[in-house]
Amino acid sequence: MDAAHMGADLERVLISEEQIQAKLTELASEIAREYDGKDLLLVGVLKGAVMVMADLARMLTIHVEMDWMAVSSYGQGTKSSGVVRILKDLDTDIVDRHVLIVEDIVDSGLTLSWLRENLESRGPASVEICALLRKPEAAKIEIDAKYVGFEIPNAFVVGYGLDYAERYRNLRSVAVLAPHVYQ
Ligand code: IMP
Repeated sequence: MDAAHMGADLERVLISEEQIQAKLTELASEIAREYDGKDLLLVGVLKGAVMVMADLARMLTIHVEMDWMAVSSYGQGTKSSGVVRILKDLDTDIVDRHVLIVEDIVDSGLTLSWLRENLESRGPASVEICALLRKPEAAKIEIDAKYVGFEIPNAFVVGYGLDYAERYRNLRSVAVLAPHVYQ
């Protein structure tokens, strides 16, 4: 879907499909350089990271494996609390492997910081984070994401994997949701 199919649900398009693809191309070439000759496992966090994973992985010029985790963070409303439950764990053993967590967005960073610690405790060679978006204003904890696509303002965004009530994930761009949709 494009923004044109969304009627009045969107306030504005924040990042276009072209901008996303250009940024992912840059990130992919950095990642391919960094992990050249290494055994790299991409770990996507369901469901938001599906689009980033699909596009980024295809842009990489090195061999990778892909695995997925699903986590739910207990929180009130739209805020996460940092208390995380694993709904689907990795199928893969990550001992001595280089792991790159692929995420859609770092908001408070609580989910990712928990996930990183959890994966680090399994004895991997390394764990790094690649996130398409980061909301700096919302950061409660310093989260060291090595690859970040765009810094965005503290607004609720949808599209390119990001949802509101499971909708809008298939929007090609990233857009600010109009407040009347969730008020
Ligand atoms: P964190 O623990 O606060 O960093 O939560 C990150 C998760 O919250 C992301 O993986 C998204 O699923 C969700 N999230 C945070 N901000 C937004 C947003 O603006 N739109 C949609 N989902 C969001």
